[in-house]
Amino acid sequence: MANTILVGAQWGDEGKGKIIDFLTEHADIVVRSQGGNNAGHTVIHGSKKYVLHLIPSGILRAKKTCVIGNGVVIDPVALVGEIDGLRERGVKVSAKNLVISDCAHLVLPYHRALDEQREITKGRNKIGTTKRGIGPAYGDKAARTGLRMGDLMQPALFSEKLKAKMQENNAILKALGAKTISYKSVNEEYLRAAEALQPFVANTVVFLHEALKNGREILFEGAQGTFLDIDHGTYPYVTSSNTTAGGACTGSGVPPHRMDRVLGVMKAYTTRVGEGPFPTEDAAVSDRLHAMGREFGATTGRARRCGWFDAVATRYATMVNGIDELAVTNLDGLDQVETIRVCTHYKLGGKKLEVPPTDHLQLAECEPVYIEMPGWMSSTEEAREFGDLPAKARAYLGKIAELTGAALRIASVGPGRDQTIVV
Ligand code: IMP
Ligand code: MG
Repeated sequence: MANTILVGAQWGDEGKGKIIDFLTEHADIVVRSQGGNNAGHTVIHGSKKYVLHLIPSGILRAKKTCVIGNGVVIDPVALVGEIDGLRERGVKVSAKNLVISDCAHLVLPYHRALDEQREITKGRNKIGTTKRGIGPAYGDKAARTGLRMGDLMQPALFSEKLKAKMQENNAILKALGAKTISYKSVNEEYLRAAEALQPFVANTVVFLHEALKNGREILFEGAQGTFLDIDHGTYPYVTSSNTTAGGACTGSGVPPHRMDRVLGVMKAYTTRVGEGPFPTEDAAVSDRLHAMGREFGATTGRARRCGWFDAVATRYATMVNGIDELAVTNLDGLDQVETIRVCTHYKLGGKKLEVPPTDHLQLAECEPVYIEMPGWMSSTEEAREFGDLPAKARAYLGKIAELTGAALRIASVGPGRDQTIVV
């Protein structure tokens, strides 16, 4: 039995949704342990495209159970919308295959309004958030003033707590020059969502420990990526949760010694959406990928910033997460690049750096040092086994795995389930 933590090794959007869907075949339970509907996991089945935000990507496989753990922040109205959307498309969602933690914190409309207002106030220094209210919701959690799923399940208690929260937050919004929000409509909307979600809510810690006792295999689905981690990322240009491997433990109540392996997912190049330093960013790489119709955000539709593979970043990700194995995605994105660059280290003030500096201003000053590798200049989309790949593509994969310091396990050459090579 192997319990696997899957994390993003870069700045998010590594293609985790597709890899989770692929790995779910061999798992019994898929758990989300952090983040909220800032995430956008795209999974393609045949001609159908699904974009999941709060529900684990495992929901698309029959006979699997999905858990939204205590570490997730939930916008209940958005979650009901996501459940309805899946049902409309024939995906079964019931209390049999979705369990939601009663300890998960709620995202409320004032969190979204504050998120937006703070970004406006920051002006040029904005973070470039998804405006889903994630930061303010985790802020309330840490300040011990948040409302949880368990509160929402008790209508009278919820309404009372909400009233006090709305008074406080409307005062803040007013002071910041933003529109205030009507208590009555929020209360009604959330109580309606509560009714729809009630069958799913439980103590997910107990649920997961029962499952462990019965030898069920668990897959932990990371959202966002290592460099968006609140502690280990490019602070303050990060999200507000622990996106690294440890977050899977605190966000689910499954202890560290029950975890068997950590799989790091990374693109064959690098992307980032939102503001913040990005040493290997390259306009030509961005233009090329955007012209191919790739690298537009699944949640906000924003064009992602793109650049060369950054082994300084993925090396650090291997360290922080304890990555044992790698899944490299989007290899096909480099199919027509004549000469591919790989960043092996940075230079900063005449010094050679093997890992990124922790200060974002210093990171922005780093100069990437590249090696060049010859491109394979042919399509990899039809490859189904490692041996089907051009020799130059195999060499490239070998090189980025070597520089990252983990074993190559999966290579992905397109969005389809079958476009997945197990090495
Ligand atoms: P927030 O999580 O909405 O507060 O956004 C903070 C930063 O994380 C911004 O740079 C976002 O673009 C980025 N971010 C949040 N969620 C994702 C994701 O799922 N993929 C990629 N970037 C994300
Ligand atoms: Mg995404």
